[in-house]
Amino acid sequence: MTTSRRSLLDTLDTSVVGRRREVELVVAALDADRHVLLEGPPGTGKSTLLRAVAEGLGIGFVFVEGNAELTPARLVGHFDPARVLNEGYEPDVFVDGPLVTAMRDGSLLYVEEINRIPEETLNVLITVMSEGELNVPRFGRVVAAGTRAELVSGNGDLEAAFFRAVEGGTPA
Ligand SMILES: Nc1ncnc2c1ncn2[C@@H]1O[C@H](COP(=O)(O)OP(=O)(O)OP(=O)(O)O)[C@@H](O)[C@H]1O
Ligand SMILES: [Mg+2]
Repeated sequence: MTTSRRSLLDTLDTSVVGRRREVELVVAALDADRHVLLEGPPGTGKSTLLRAVAEGLGIGFVFVEGNAELTPARLVGHFDPARVLNEGYEPDVFVDGPLVTAMRDGSLLYVEEINRIPEETLNVLITVMSEGELNVPRFGRVVAAGTRAELVSGNGDLEAAFFRAVEGGTPA
């Protein structure tokens, strides 16, 4: 481990109490451009840890509340309908959603309660996590500037959700 990483972990120890191992794992995952799923009961420091890590690494932090209303358009972004009427599907008529914002800036994307998001939205996330890019109809290709997706769940239904999304199986 490099000296800078060690001093980062020492600094994080003061803001995230008693979670050295978890912090190490998250930092290592980010260094390796991987994605992390944190599972744990409410109030056990998941959000605290991720915010502290983003701040410690000096990267942006984009928070998304995962729920059944998080459609792909809400996650990715959408064309402003009123402006499309006047200007057409121009790139600057596109309103970035949190995913595109995080991809552009290389920010840490934190989806809270990912187990609650609709399956089609999970599919979009999984594609971006594996491909590092996203194709938005009429807008074009968005390439991740080192997007870091942190997926956080509060319960254990996630394996089934991922299985459904990846395998296209029927809901458990
Ligand atoms: N390890 C920790 N170090 C410092 N503060 C902590 C730690 N764990 C929890 N806290 C404090 O407890 C509160 C709740 O923690 P936090 O919001 O991070 O939990 P969470 O796991 O994200 O919960 P939820 O699943 O409800 O989102 C925060 O105000 C935070 O300051
Ligand atoms: Mg939280």
